[in-house]
Amino acid sequence: MNWQFPVTRTTHPKPRPEDETKLGFARYFTDHMFVIDYDEGQGWHDGRVVPHEPILIEPASCVLHYAQMMFEGMKAYRTPTGEIQLFRPEENAKRMNRTNERMCIPEVPEGLLIAGVRAVIEQDIDWMPSAPGTAMYIRPFIFGDEVSFSVLPAKHYRFMIILSPTGSYYAANDGGLSTTRIYVQDEYIRAARGGTGFAKCGGNYGGGMRASKDAMKYNCKDVLWLDAAENKYVEEIGTSNAFFRIADEVITAPLDSGTILPGITRNSVIQLLKKWGVKVTERKLSIDEIIEASKNGTLQEIFASGTAAVISPIGCLCVEGTDVPVADGKVGPVAQKLYDTLYGMQTGTVKDDMGWVYPLGLKA
Ligand SMILES: Cc1ncc(COP(=O)(O)O)c(C=O)c1O
Repeated sequence: MNWQFPVTRTTHPKPRPEDETKLGFARYFTDHMFVIDYDEGQGWHDGRVVPHEPILIEPASCVLHYAQMMFEGMKAYRTPTGEIQLFRPEENAKRMNRTNERMCIPEVPEGLLIAGVRAVIEQDIDWMPSAPGTAMYIRPFIFGDEVSFSVLPAKHYRFMIILSPTGSYYAANDGGLSTTRIYVQDEYIRAARGGTGFAKCGGNYGGGMRASKDAMKYNCKDVLWLDAAENKYVEEIGTSNAFFRIADEVITAPLDSGTILPGITRNSVIQLLKKWGVKVTERKLSIDEIIEASKNGTLQEIFASGTAAVISPIGCLCVEGTDVPVADGKVGPVAQKLYDTLYGMQTGTVKDDMGWVYPLGLKA
């Protein structure tokens, strides 16, 4: 379907961020946003690009009480010649509908997500940052805004897309990767079998904040979640997927428990490692096996993968207050090569021979 949306331009454009090296994450939002409504009779209708401004919401809207919502996270990148491109956006569209199905939110028709993203980026193209490591963060989200206290799926939804120019995740380190400390969470859980762990719904994140906050007491940046049933097997690191290189094998948790968000970066990492001939296994991995590997010197690398940082190497785990070092604590070669390849493809400096890059046909 060829989606076309009417545009209302802002009459009050915001000042552009002065220093692209200090963009941070979600500090600035562009001038426009995409909105489309859903109701039972008409389906998704009335798509439009309008000024980014606060929205009115009835206090009895069901999302404010029962959290029937979902979101996605993706980025648009500028290549050295000024082309604007996305990275595997069809995968975001598929994941969006998997979340929608779980949350009883109506399916989003094929092509609508990318068409909405394109329409709003076209209006805010002069907001595309160009400093190394920067990108346009894209936040699509849907919420039920029916006025109702019944714990039932809403009959009316709003789907919006907002944009935020974001800085380099590694800005403090001059763009070079650096390692962090991660707290192994043994009290709270993120997701249980049959729950919503595989879905990108707000409740998963609200419920995780207590653990992330507590991790900071141990000078850790975030948590390594363990499985809910046995509190034994590693699952995700904060809001990223987790990889462990032990001896000659790279291990990541399997998706079949339904407790792990199927990251698009995770899938890209697995495909690249296979292409490079690195042994990569999706299997259950216990925290005890990791501690043992640290002791016997076979724990080579741990890293997290996700849209925000691409690859985040971990230098040390904190288990029940005791440090478990990861090799020499420095950035490992596999993490570095994955970062260079993925970030290079995303920004057009490394040839994309996987068919992952999605040019929007827009130039900044
Ligand atoms: C819980 C969780 N796990 C993993 C990821 C990584 O997913 P992706 O690589 O698609 O950004 C994210 C980020 O979206 C996340 O929120």
